[in-house]
Amino acid sequence: MNIAIVGSGYVGLVTGTCFAEVGHNVICVDNDDAKVAQLKAGKIPIYEPGLEDLIRKNVQLKRLHFTNSIGEGVEKSQVVFIAVPTPPQHDGSVDLSYVETVARQIAEHIKEYRVVVDKSTVPVKTGEKVAETIRRYAKPGVEFDVVSNPEFLREGSAVEDLMKPDRIVFGVNSSKASALMHEVYSPFNAPIMVTDLNSAELIKHASNSFLALKISYINAVAAICEASGADVEKVAAGMGADKRIGRQFLNAGLGYGGSCFPKDISAFIKISEELGYNFQLLKEVEKINADQGERFLKKLRDKLWVLKDKKIGQLGLAFKGNTDDIRMSVGIRIAEQMVKEGASLLAYDPKGMEKCNQLHPDIKTVNSAYEAANGAEALIIATEWVDFKSLDWVKIRESMRTPLIFDGRNLLDPSEMKSLGFEYYSVGR
Ligand code: UGA
Repeated sequence: MNIAIVGSGYVGLVTGTCFAEVGHNVICVDNDDAKVAQLKAGKIPIYEPGLEDLIRKNVQLKRLHFTNSIGEGVEKSQVVFIAVPTPPQHDGSVDLSYVETVARQIAEHIKEYRVVVDKSTVPVKTGEKVAETIRRYAKPGVEFDVVSNPEFLREGSAVEDLMKPDRIVFGVNSSKASALMHEVYSPFNAPIMVTDLNSAELIKHASNSFLALKISYINAVAAICEASGADVEKVAAGMGADKRIGRQFLNAGLGYGGSCFPKDISAFIKISEELGYNFQLLKEVEKINADQGERFLKKLRDKLWVLKDKKIGQLGLAFKGNTDDIRMSVGIRIAEQMVKEGASLLAYDPKGMEKCNQLHPDIKTVNSAYEAANGAEALIIATEWVDFKSLDWVKIRESMRTPLIFDGRNLLDPSEMKSLGFEYYSVGR
């Protein structure tokens, strides 16, 4: 099939690449000329495992193309996906201006039947607005359908999530659009769930909010574990063994960050409010998450007393492992707070340092975990990078001024760290 994807961010670029990988002919559209030129030259603006190779392969096979012309995308494609940002506004609501602009631009170029698919995370009822907008700006009589097709990929495992999804959801109002969407997704061999437009949009916000709720729940349980001497890892394992609960997203730690959960939970609270429902439960999820970083810093202060002039190493700046993304990262928030309190902080992240250096020049970075630890009075782990597990911890202990570790992601084994001579603190155990 001929498919256009408007927006070459995380979702758009990975989706376009995976569509090409299964045999579709894909045009990725972006209004950022520099990014398009970069992609055409084979340079990938983000780090995502496996993505670079797939892009290169599909460009060579001439199944993946990049352009800054939305007209070209609409003209050459039966199905046009919208994958542009939907950033948060100050009051928690979603800025839909990029989606609206793209809808108008699509309308200007539609000459014959097209399926316009919204993949951006949007509030319920946005599809209806997109349809109204296209109808208003397109030539009279032009036929089209609007579909909602939420994306469930996670950064850091985006390619795998997209190639082997648990489920594919799309909300449609017409059988013609439904048939074309089945054609787009049949090569993926995954269960397809077809709903109405509004339900598909809600599935996305309800899913992300539920996952965030699981994280805040286990973080609240971790606080009880700390107060009672229980071990949150054992509690999570015991809970997770129940198939109805499941072990995933029960990792206690510093809480959730990133460009999705914080934004989507506030948006869902706001949408609910506008629809007349006070989603108090989600407000508590946000509060627990916001407190998690501060509770962690308190442990550090309890041990070091004042942070001013203390040499502290930090491992991890990205909002999670396997990514260079530092947006809304709890690790960045904690680093900034320590710097504010006068700590002499040296941070290291396998992929997130370039973005950190650009956006947070107050956080000093070094080129290795060993440099961050050298001479430090405490070492903090803020991101769940598996690479940190296999560091030479004996070398680190010997280089630190005091062998004090604060593991904010429960990445290391407490008894092993103790046997290596560390004083080791983690979350909920
Ligand atoms: C999340 C969802 O998992 C995806 O399904 C969704 O498509 C995506 O948002 C989106 O809306 O675009 P993502 O934000 O990339 O994906 O990453 P997650 O793996 O969900 O992690 C989010 C945050 O939660 C990270 O900061 C991570 O450290 C934290 N987390 C995750 C925990 O603290 N504990 C856990 O058990 C799991």
